[in-house]
Amino acid sequence: MKLCMIGTGYVGLVSGTCFADIGNQVICVDKDKNKIDKLNAGISPIYEPGLDELIKKNFTAKRLLFTTNIKMAINSSEIIFICVGTPTKKKSIKVDLSYVYKCAREILKYSKRKKIIVTKSTVPIGTGDEIEKILKKKKKFLNIISNPEFLREGEAIRDFRYPDRIVVGSNEKKAFNIMRKLYTPLTNKGAKFFTTTRRGAELIKYASNAFLATKITFINELANLCEKSGVNVEDISLGMGSDSRIGGRFLRAGPAYGGSCFPKDTKGLVSAAEKYKINLSVVKSVIKSNQERVSLLTQRIHKILGSNIRNKKISFLGVTFKPNTDDMRDSTSLKMIPYLCKKGAKVRYYDPSGEKNEFRKIKNCNYRNNIKSNCNDADLLVLLTEWDEFKSIDFKKIVKNNKFKVYDLRNLYSAEEMKKNKIKYYSVGRPNTN
Ligand SMILES: NC(=O)c1ccc[n+]([C@@H]2O[C@H](COP(=O)([O-])OP(=O)(O)OC[C@H]3O[C@@H](n4cnc5c(N)ncnc54)[C@H](O)[C@@H]3O)[C@@H](O)[C@H]2O)c1
Repeated sequence: MKLCMIGTGYVGLVSGTCFADIGNQVICVDKDKNKIDKLNAGISPIYEPGLDELIKKNFTAKRLLFTTNIKMAINSSEIIFICVGTPTKKKSIKVDLSYVYKCAREILKYSKRKKIIVTKSTVPIGTGDEIEKILKKKKKFLNIISNPEFLREGEAIRDFRYPDRIVVGSNEKKAFNIMRKLYTPLTNKGAKFFTTTRRGAELIKYASNAFLATKITFINELANLCEKSGVNVEDISLGMGSDSRIGGRFLRAGPAYGGSCFPKDTKGLVSAAEKYKINLSVVKSVIKSNQERVSLLTQRIHKILGSNIRNKKISFLGVTFKPNTDDMRDSTSLKMIPYLCKKGAKVRYYDPSGEKNEFRKIKNCNYRNNIKSNCNDADLLVLLTEWDEFKSIDFKKIVKNNKFKVYDLRNLYSAEEMKKNKIKYYSVGRPNTN
């Protein structure tokens, strides 16, 4: 099939490349010329394991094309996927749909023939109806489908190839057959193909993300209780998660949830519900609790280092919101690091995905390009993101400061091991062993 992905970001690039890999002809279009130039030069603009090789393979096979020419991209395709960002509006919890509606207007302008439009972007209930209104202005017959994306950054290729389910929402039965055909290589391997109304599909995506955010927040709050009551939160996660009705995933205590989806989608869901005068009080308190978690973590740093942290050397290991991605959107580090710097701490960080623009202009914040130089003279090491290369660091070998302490926000290390090495160690929701 001939496909076009409007928006070549994490979702558009990964799903476009994977669609090409299962035999489709795919044009990835983006308004960002720099991104497209990089892709045409064989450089992936994002860090995603396995993606570079897959892009190269399909680009060379001429199944994958990158362009800024939206007119050509739209005209050459049968199915057009909208994969642009849907961020939160500034100073509001509402979803900014301007990028999505701009795509709809461009499709209206450039489509010469009947097209199938699919929203992969996460959009609130009724967005498909609005797109339909825009497109019907010229009375062109266009099929508008919702096919939300569930891939996770860092595991995006695997998630695309082996999804738990493919959700397709449409108000026209014919649309399901087209989408079923497109996804046949995945459903043949066992992926569930779930059909519903367009509004149903739009809501499934928000509901899924809000539920996962709730699970994380629930266990994070229980971790606070565990810290005070001498219980190990990992026992609670395991004990609860072994119940098949609950399930163990997303039950690991840690920092506040972040990333490009959960923070914006929880807010987006609350705001969409408000439109219908429905109060989603559970999701609202999840958002509040998650926001409060950041200050709770910084308070803990004050407890570990003392109230005056001026000139204390604090080293971060990992600053992205999770491992195997370079995505910084809504990472806890974006709040913690500026706060600590403002208090006079000397913050350094190392992240396997490289230096971050977000911290370049912050006074007292420096990038170190390896674990050793980042840690050796630190007063406190904050493990924020559990990249594989952080799992087996021999701190005893690399640390010169005998007052070195570790605050492990992912419970990556063994408290016993730290004690053996005479390193003061703090983690999340586990009994204090110092
Ligand atoms: N990132 C994820 O893990 C993930 C997972 C599932 C769903 N989603 C959803 O998918 C959508 C896209 O997310 P993302 O992370 O890929 O965003 P992104 O910011 O990485 O990519 C969006 C791209 O769209 C481009 N763009 C915007 N307007 C355009 C236009 N008119 N024409 C051409 N290109 C345009 C931007 O330049 C950008 O490259 C969002 O709704 C998000 O919620 C994201």
